[in-house]
Amino acid sequence: MKTIDDLGDLRGKRVLVRSDLNVPLDGGTITDDGRIRASAPTISDLSDRGARVIVCAHLGRPKGAPDPAYSLAPVADRMAEVLGRPVQFATDTVGDAAQAAVAALGDGDVVVLENLRFDPGETSKDDAERSAFADRLAALADAYVGDGFGALHRKHASVYDVPARLPHAVGGLVRKEIEVLERLTGDPDRPYVVVLGGSKVSDKLGVIDNLLGRVDRLVIGGGMVFTFLKAQGHEVGKSLLEQDQVDAVRSSVEQAAAKGVEIVLPVDIVAATSLDADADIDVVAADAIPADRIGADIGPRSAELFAGKIRDARTVFWNGPMGVFEQEAFADGTRAVAEALTEVDGLTVVGGGDSAAAVRQLGFAEDRFGHISTGGGASLEFLEGKTLPGLTALTDSTDTKG
Ligand code: 3PG
Repeated sequence: MKTIDDLGDLRGKRVLVRSDLNVPLDGGTITDDGRIRASAPTISDLSDRGARVIVCAHLGRPKGAPDPAYSLAPVADRMAEVLGRPVQFATDTVGDAAQAAVAALGDGDVVVLENLRFDPGETSKDDAERSAFADRLAALADAYVGDGFGALHRKHASVYDVPARLPHAVGGLVRKEIEVLERLTGDPDRPYVVVLGGSKVSDKLGVIDNLLGRVDRLVIGGGMVFTFLKAQGHEVGKSLLEQDQVDAVRSSVEQAAAKGVEIVLPVDIVAATSLDADADIDVVAADAIPADRIGADIGPRSAELFAGKIRDARTVFWNGPMGVFEQEAFADGTRAVAEALTEVDGLTVVGGGDSAAAVRQLGFAEDRFGHISTGGGASLEFLEGKTLPGLTALTDSTDTKG
């Protein structure tokens, strides 16, 4: 993979950077700017080299048409604050506004284009439609830098098709992410513990299956744990349950046992009448969740158990909160796991949009963790052993071009 250095002298060159600026918004307010801060160094670097920097990214999942709720305008404003230099904003993706904004760039200037997903060509499954959009994006620039790690698992125009049309390089954020994740799939120091949470077990089974040959311990909490409890024959009340995954979970647990992997499940659960702040809450045994209750967090004994299983590890990967951490009443399990990671003498990786947001929201300093990934689905797919289309596009040799 070529790096930015390999692109040669960039002074005066128009460089299109694909970043992942998909940040959580509450109205127009950015509630976690982690991805903006993580993307800034590559943009700064290009600007310092005198490039005319064109940043493109997506936000949320608009339906292929402009939708003000998903505008990148607030992100461009925040990017200017983070970079400490002016950032222009183009109110369309490849249209008149984008072309005019790019034409007006001086050396070192930065423009953020409007949400790529406002154009149906960005995410289209039709190669011709995607190609047509990629042609227009590529026409804005002289070179391409792939730095949107969180979107590398998407076969989208800006991620997959544009690199083939321009001299391209991988950005520093992507390089660092891959370097860290390769340590997890290579020969990690042991004990190697993977902590999984979040709501959907169906998103995680591929990772679990791929990691079974590698990890020493798998610690499971969050909404997905109720499918595990059900697979063990327990009732889970009104908790999240993926009934159609129960058999698959059972078979993963059996495989884990056969491979000598320790699976750690909660022993108690915070069971609530609802997920609202004023809900009635009890701590119940994990095998005795009342029929009218929802599991909202792991219980205190589980938090202690999980922390103990994490602390002595030499390598930890954590993806997914342990409970509905956005509500203080249900945040203790996630807090305990985050705290335990900070006590590990070894490599700790926080992966995934939600867990990364959780550690920041719960007030943990980022430097207490080895690496906080910007990728949710992308890091999981990497750990699943899948080929990431965006990585293939940056790796495949079109190096003679340009
Ligand atoms: C993410 O949030 O994981 C990335 O930005 C990708 O977003 P997507 O799942 O909507 O493609």
